[in-house]
Amino acid sequence: MKRWEIGSDFDYSTADLLMSAPSLFWLPKKYQLFSTATASILALKILLQKKKTPTLKIHVPAFYCMSLVRKLKTAFEVCCYRDLPYESHPDFATLRAKPGDLVIAVNLFGIKSQKPWTKWQQENQNVVLIEDHTHDPFSPWAKNSTADYAVSSLHKTLPIPDGGILWSPQNLALPEPLGLESSGANLRLTSMVLKRAYLNGMTINKEDYLRLSIDGQNQLDDESNSVVSTFTRNIFPLLNIRNFRQKRADNIRKFIHLSLNQPSLYWKPLFETWAEDTVPFNSIIICQSPEIRDSLRQYLISSNIFPAIHWRQPYDGVSFDEPDAIALSEEILTIPTDQRYDLTDIFCVFKILNQFTP
Ligand SMILES: Cc1ncc(COP(=O)(O)O)c(C=O)c1O
Repeated sequence: MKRWEIGSDFDYSTADLLMSAPSLFWLPKKYQLFSTATASILALKILLQKKKTPTLKIHVPAFYCMSLVRKLKTAFEVCCYRDLPYESHPDFATLRAKPGDLVIAVNLFGIKSQKPWTKWQQENQNVVLIEDHTHDPFSPWAKNSTADYAVSSLHKTLPIPDGGILWSPQNLALPEPLGLESSGANLRLTSMVLKRAYLNGMTINKEDYLRLSIDGQNQLDDESNSVVSTFTRNIFPLLNIRNFRQKRADNIRKFIHLSLNQPSLYWKPLFETWAEDTVPFNSIIICQSPEIRDSLRQYLISSNIFPAIHWRQPYDGVSFDEPDAIALSEEILTIPTDQRYDLTDIFCVFKILNQFTP
């Protein structure tokens, strides 16, 4: 008997995922693959850091992936500027970048706009602009980027065990990955294959594949081996990205439609619409209080729905001094509605969600 569960790591099965021929989907003309997006930014630092100059300063949104920020702090002086997913523009008055500094502009949840950044870039040409397109790696913004560098963590939206892509829309030199392939990718891939077997009803111990995934991630966290895995390098071009994007957008649209038609007392969608040809990262909700968020999360887990929190703050002691970002991080929840699921799953998820009482 097949098992029904929603969210957490991708599982892997060649049968469903690959196309019969390599995808003609958009990719930058020149790019470099790394084991992770974090590794690509750290490699960029080695390229940009001139000898005998002070530590480079990097500016990131106050609402961002704090495990990445923790890593950045090992290589850069990290500052934050105000950019929240529910505000249409970053607050550029809080972005005090000087010539030679680096700025990460993030397409948060894939719903942000390129436009404010285009103007900012024209006025700040001596600052190195890096865009993070992790939440919609194939958006019109990513394709039309004019940034110095752009990066996407590919394994966050695609069923591959590792993979970060770095390119330069300005055609600047790209750094090389360091060392060897990370053995973490092998562990994560094994976990993904076992997860599929588990979902198919086989006698697989869930703890075993979860342990492989955690161990794999820990090994990927060592950026001294940042070569992308042979698996990801070869499978990535065969993924049916067009189909994934369509399914993801359809699922999120359906989820939002249901949420607006039958509003909950306890939570609401973070966004209701998005620009044409873009695909949001996932269905993101904001709960009425941190207590409701935590109780809703536990309730969903007990119903085999595994929501993620993008992103906890403080995380491992790291946080920014931006109360609105911290407040959001305590009330936000990601409901997994990606390409793995069909509309029947979305109805089911919504029904369970709608039966929640704190
Ligand atoms: C938006 C965003 N960018 C980049 C990263 C780093 O990704 P990776 O795990 O590939 O280093 C993360 C990590 O969660 C993220 O959420």
